[in-house]
Amino acid sequence: MELKGAVAVVTGGASGIGESVAKSMALKGVKVVIGDMDAKNLERVSGEISAAGGQVAWAKCNVTNEEDVAALMDLAIEKFSALNICVASAGIIKDGLMINLDKETGKVKRAMTTDQFKAVIDVNLVGSFITLREAAIRMANNGYKGLLVPISSVNKVGQTGQLNYSSTKAAIALWPKIIVGEFQMKGIQNIRCVSIAPGYVGTPMVKGMNQEALAGILKGVHINRLIEPSEIADIIMFAAQNEAVDATCLEITGGLISNGLAK
Ligand SMILES: NC(=O)c1ccc[n+]([C@@H]2O[C@H](COP(=O)([O-])OP(=O)(O)OC[C@H]3O[C@@H](n4cnc5c(N)ncnc54)[C@H](O)[C@@H]3O)[C@@H](O)[C@H]2O)c1
Repeated sequence: MELKGAVAVVTGGASGIGESVAKSMALKGVKVVIGDMDAKNLERVSGEISAAGGQVAWAKCNVTNEEDVAALMDLAIEKFSALNICVASAGIIKDGLMINLDKETGKVKRAMTTDQFKAVIDVNLVGSFITLREAAIRMANNGYKGLLVPISSVNKVGQTGQLNYSSTKAAIALWPKIIVGEFQMKGIQNIRCVSIAPGYVGTPMVKGMNQEALAGILKGVHINRLIEPSEIADIIMFAAQNEAVDATCLEITGGLISNGLAK
């Protein structure tokens, strides 16, 4: 796919990976539409893209709300007359153990609440589903050349303390095979799907983590540093430009060998 002139919708575009993807793509001539719940930062990112000469539109959007997501996709088509790349980067963490013992009594003191479990499933899994579905409907109906990009994580392998989060990321790693299988079955040749599984990226999500735990994790990272959000953006643009990359989950981890937590 030619990046210059393509139209991308990026959820979670007000921060971190989504922000970086939107900015990197805009610099390459992609017209970007960013959605997020955080209107203040959407306005900031949009202003920065415009100031750098990029073409951008934004809308406040909760990815768990079907009308919001449909409106975001329609905005891309109204404003830029196409929808070619959809990056579903909105996501949250609410880490905790399923059951946690009291050191003194050895009895269960705390447990992950159902709300804590469901909140992460709703945003990361249901929200990404709605996002990809609404993009795919428009790509299929209009014959746009398209790429769907949901975000998995290296923690798809099963991270201690992330029963909710890892469940969503394991599922998303499988989606490209399932979705492209459907497309193949129905003769839909114009839409590809590739998920990205990053390791630890220097975004507000990771900077807000327990810093002691993060230092332990970085000891198991071969490049010995956090990945830059722009390095994830580069991989997504690489996938967009290379049609042979399809129905797969690309890991970009900086050589994460062990995270020191899941013993
Ligand atoms: N940072 C990492 O190390 C890392 C690693 C692997 C995967 N990921 C995944 O990458 C994606 C982006 O993470 P990030 O690090 O950029 O996080 P981030 O916190 O910097 O950005 C996430 C954005 O999503 C938005 N958001 C949250 N809930 C939303 C909702 N319901 N509707 C719309 N927007 C919503 C937030 O407002 C925020 O702007 C997430 O799916 C995350 O799980 C991140």
